[in-house]
Amino acid sequence: MAYWRPPWRGPWGTTYATNLRMYMQSLSEEQWLKKAKSLKTRPPMPWFTVQQMNSADLRAIHAYIRHLGPGGEPAPAYVPPDKEPPPPFVQFPGPPK
Ligand code: HEM
Repeated sequence: MAYWRPPWRGPWGTTYATNLRMYMQSLSEEQWLKKAKSLKTRPPMPWFTVQQMNSADLRAIHAYIRHLGPGGEPAPAYVPPDKEPPPPFVQFPGPPK
């Protein structure tokens, strides 16, 4: 079975973690470093912790993912908040009103 990633649904809509094996193929090490240090995505991706990683660790992540090759399939497209994604999905509560 193909790798399955949980859809994350909350007030931001529904997001699917990017397939990094595909994503990294088109990025050089220097492009990845630049990207990682200014990364910002929708939740629940912890982009703020990736931004704070040091260059040596970011280079190691780049080398490791590239060595795996471009496996798997692209993640499903982002679903806006007013649309229901196909189940199952992880539902986050909204902030208290
Ligand atoms: C070292 C760990 C991680 C790295 C290096 C990483 C890296 C990335 C990158 C490069 C993207 C694509 C950003 C772009 O569009 O340019 C992404 C997207 C995403 N990641 Fe991560 N990630 C990590 C951990 C996680 C974790 C722990 C989660 C969830 C629990 C997560 C969830 C997501 C989601 C949902 C997206 C898509 C966000 C959107 O559609 O806006 N990631 N990640």
